[in-house]
Amino acid sequence: MNPSIQSIAKQLMASPKGLLAADESPKTSEKRFSPLGIPSTSEKRREFRQMLFSTPDIEEYISGVILHDETIKQKADSGETFASYLRSKGIIPGIKVDGGLVDFDNFDGETITEGLDGLASRLHEYYEMGARFTKWRAAFVIDESKRLPSLGAIHANLHQMARYASIAQAAQMVPIVEPEVLYDGTHSIKSASDTTSQIIRVLFELLKAYRVDLSGVILKTSMVLAGKNSPTQSTPEEVANSTLSMLDQRVPKEVAGIVFLSGGQSTEQARDNLEAIGSDSKDHSWPITFSFSRAVQDNSLATWQGKSENISAAQNEFIKAVRDDSLADRGKFKK
Ligand code: G3H
Repeated sequence: MNPSIQSIAKQLMASPKGLLAADESPKTSEKRFSPLGIPSTSEKRREFRQMLFSTPDIEEYISGVILHDETIKQKADSGETFASYLRSKGIIPGIKVDGGLVDFDNFDGETITEGLDGLASRLHEYYEMGARFTKWRAAFVIDESKRLPSLGAIHANLHQMARYASIAQAAQMVPIVEPEVLYDGTHSIKSASDTTSQIIRVLFELLKAYRVDLSGVILKTSMVLAGKNSPTQSTPEEVANSTLSMLDQRVPKEVAGIVFLSGGQSTEQARDNLEAIGSDSKDHSWPITFSFSRAVQDNSLATWQGKSENISAAQNEFIKAVRDDSLADRGKFKK
């Protein structure tokens, strides 16, 4: 019998592990590779993922990896597909299934996520390839002077996200719903909290309206913090208090788990904020962990530089980042 979506979600959320987001599109990979002089070819992206996934002891800290369509169709050095390779290490392969962001019609500076067309049949193919969970991301900009995000962008994006979640569950795959509130901007922590709270409230109203089973859903959210260019930056304690009180208020207790994206925070900043969240002494209804891309990959990528002689040093950077985040999530990094 196939495991239920609830049991897959439970395995993904099992402490002390987090999820690795390795689902960057070729375009995003190019943005990360170019400044380091690494050519962004399909083979170089494969080599980078091979380096990450073959890091010794990765399975101690990582329960699941979110892959891109390109990567799930690629093979590891062993000749197996990456999905089989990860499964052989006890790591659950997942897949990003949204089609990315496009400009949202008349809405200046806002985006809408594409990708619902043909989704059910794509999910069937990904399931056959071994993926057992999926991710869909929408992005929301905060701009107080323009009153963004607009109600139109919130509703249009979250209706699509809720529909995606229902299609994923029908395909026996766990949906990770990711309504990212962007860190870019000058907004205050209060504004980040109000916006994230509104978005998560609407998201759960719509997930219920679309009859999505919340016990088989993982929420991937931004931490609540002041914008990157705000004159008043948030301390880890402020981030933890604002994030957890908003989540306690907005996220139904049946939800299988909550994971954080890093959103452009540095490796240290994301870890310290996670540590403050993990040190909170209150009981919460759902397990919480990390699902970072940049915060766990940046140092490793900079060390690797696309060269085989740097693989071992780059793997050391990667395992350090995920081990530190695993400790931080339990409030044990600084102890
Ligand atoms: O969609 C974004 C990824 O899932 C998380 O990436 O940790 O770099 O924000 P990030």
